[in-house]
Amino acid sequence: MSSDTASRLERTFKVVGLPGDGIGPEVYASACQVLAVMEEQFGLRIELDEQLIGGAAIDAGGSPLPQATIDACRKADAALLGAVGGPKWDGNPADKRPELGLLKIRAEFNLFCNLRPIVTHPALHGFSPIKPDRLANVDLMLVRELTGGIYFGKKWRKDGQAEDICSYNREEITRVTRAAARIAQQRDRRITLVDKANVLETSRLWREVVHQVIADEFPDVQVENMFVDAAAMHLLSRPADFDVMLTENLFGDILSDEASMLCGSLGLLPSASLNEEQFGLYEPVHGSAPDIAGKGIANPYAMLLSVAMMLRHSLGCNREADALEQTIFSCWNDGILTVDLVENGLGTREITETVCQRLSSHDSSRRTAE
Ligand code: IPM
Ligand code: MG
Repeated sequence: MSSDTASRLERTFKVVGLPGDGIGPEVYASACQVLAVMEEQFGLRIELDEQLIGGAAIDAGGSPLPQATIDACRKADAALLGAVGGPKWDGNPADKRPELGLLKIRAEFNLFCNLRPIVTHPALHGFSPIKPDRLANVDLMLVRELTGGIYFGKKWRKDGQAEDICSYNREEITRVTRAAARIAQQRDRRITLVDKANVLETSRLWREVVHQVIADEFPDVQVENMFVDAAAMHLLSRPADFDVMLTENLFGDILSDEASMLCGSLGLLPSASLNEEQFGLYEPVHGSAPDIAGKGIANPYAMLLSVAMMLRHSLGCNREADALEQTIFSCWNDGILTVDLVENGLGTREITETVCQRLSSHDSSRRTAE
């Protein structure tokens, strides 16, 4: 095989597309358009296999995560998800809720490590409710444990009483700590462990295990402890001080929505959910936003930044990820924004077209930072 053929084959990837509900299909369509340009511009081949999840899957066959979707993901390098959920399914019983599709795919593929980068961009400082002087140099990586804790513990409800058990074991904490420490080693080598160790036994186990793993395996990484209530405050009062924030499932869910306000809009935050192999699920942090679904005004940037994360973390295409991110930042600099940020903002389609145009004129022979 010639090395040319080999490198072409190497750059063929299988991605499962999961448009989902609400604005999910709109931002997913934006991702498909951008991926088509990336293929052309950078000589990649991305085979998209579209499957059902969430409310759309319940409507089609009763289950929020059909077996066909699981099977397709097993054969893929990555999955790209729009969003799940909506008022249509609000009255459904617990086992027929769209969100269950998301929780099940996280559990099925062991996607324990959820990365939510929070990076402020100077062109968007004015859109954050936080004072601009706090927003300079904010670049933090929230590492959220995603397959344990109160989300996955035993739940019951009977006779006016209910319980959700929060449980963690040493292995679950160890593997996400290792992932966070490896990320910290690529950055400023500082981890803030966020917990509620003054009250919760699970948090006390987290502290013990995290400090042990770091001391034994990552002596070059520093760990500081912070209670979650204080972290919620410091995230707004001095966000630039954080490097990597490591926390459990529920705290990470709450803190990531809070942190999105630093960037200006929840519509700007991407995420990656990873396991110990290369496979990852990539999705915007925002939900299905049923109030604006179908109007063509959804902010596609969180989804497009999720595509960049997919290129980097599961497909190993760093140069392409950089090019896509730089194109997005150039759009922000030029005020190419949706209505969640500016009055008379542009629609999803117009923004997507601008991104595509700029990408097609991107000089793909230029080496961007890797
Ligand atoms: C998120 C979402 C999900 C979560 C919901 C939709 C189940 O809020 O990914 O942050 O709570 O994990
Ligand atoms: Mg959330």
